[in-house]
Amino acid sequence: MSKKPIIQVQAVSQRFSTAGGEFVALQNVSFDIHEGETVSLIGHSGCGKSTLLNLIAGITLPTEGGLLCDNREIAGPGPERAVVFQNHSLLPWLTCFDNVALAVDQVFRRTMNKAERREWIEHNLDRVQMGHALHKRPGEISGGMKQRVGIARALAMKPKVLLMDEPFGALDALTRAHLQDAVMQIQQSLNTTIVLITHDVDEAVLLSDRVLMMTNGPAATVGEILDVKLPRPRNRVQLADDSRYHHLRQQILHFLYEKQPKAA
Ligand SMILES: Nc1ncnc2c1ncn2[C@@H]1O[C@H](COP(=O)(O)OP(=O)(O)O)[C@@H](O)[C@H]1O
Ligand SMILES: [Mg+2]
Repeated sequence: MSKKPIIQVQAVSQRFSTAGGEFVALQNVSFDIHEGETVSLIGHSGCGKSTLLNLIAGITLPTEGGLLCDNREIAGPGPERAVVFQNHSLLPWLTCFDNVALAVDQVFRRTMNKAERREWIEHNLDRVQMGHALHKRPGEISGGMKQRVGIARALAMKPKVLLMDEPFGALDALTRAHLQDAVMQIQQSLNTTIVLITHDVDEAVLLSDRVLMMTNGPAATVGEILDVKLPRPRNRVQLADDSRYHHLRQQILHFLYEKQPKAA
């Protein structure tokens, strides 16, 4: 992992105007994410995690402060910052192949010919073990498989940064574990930079190099940053017996439930 910052969040604040007046969602948030790093954002529901990810994605622009990707101002969405949402957002009338093709055609129409694009689409679906279901539609595959296609579609854009907003939140525990392992493998082989939103403490420790722990809103910010120096590749079964793992887990739990408790 290099120390080159790929994402820079600089004194960002985000306010929304609501029926009840102005709402300050984020207040003075600053951090860098380095090339090849996996960083999780963890915090209680409603603290501002998606608001922050949307700013990195360029889906919204900050009220104050600025964001850079590879030293260029983030002024809108771009293929170098591909997003995977919780609810896969595949088009139901298109096959898995065509859902990925939509993104690939958009990004590589000028630089790859039709045969190259077809091969690239198939390659990315293979990468998430979905090569067998190219011609199925989203309604014909499971939730975990839909998430795999969503990841393939994002990776097929060759993003500099993969942004994931609770990508496994809607899946059962076993499917979630398989997908976490798949993401770790892909990250290792491509050295992708990943920003992952989660509210799952185990997921944060297992996947991350650093965990950014957010304070409760309104006016949420990054309260503490936890370095996760566990060696890779990581194995969930071995980590279950590792005291370092439990200590890291404990630090996040302490932050979430003692320093930033949330009224039910
Ligand atoms: N477009 C918006 N208009 C008004 N309030 C918003 C808007 N988007 C988010 N919020 C508020 O900002 C806070 C953070 O929301 P969000 O980022 O979705 O939280 P999280 O993803 O951590 O659950 C919440 O209180 C939410 O109601
Ligand atoms: Mg959210």
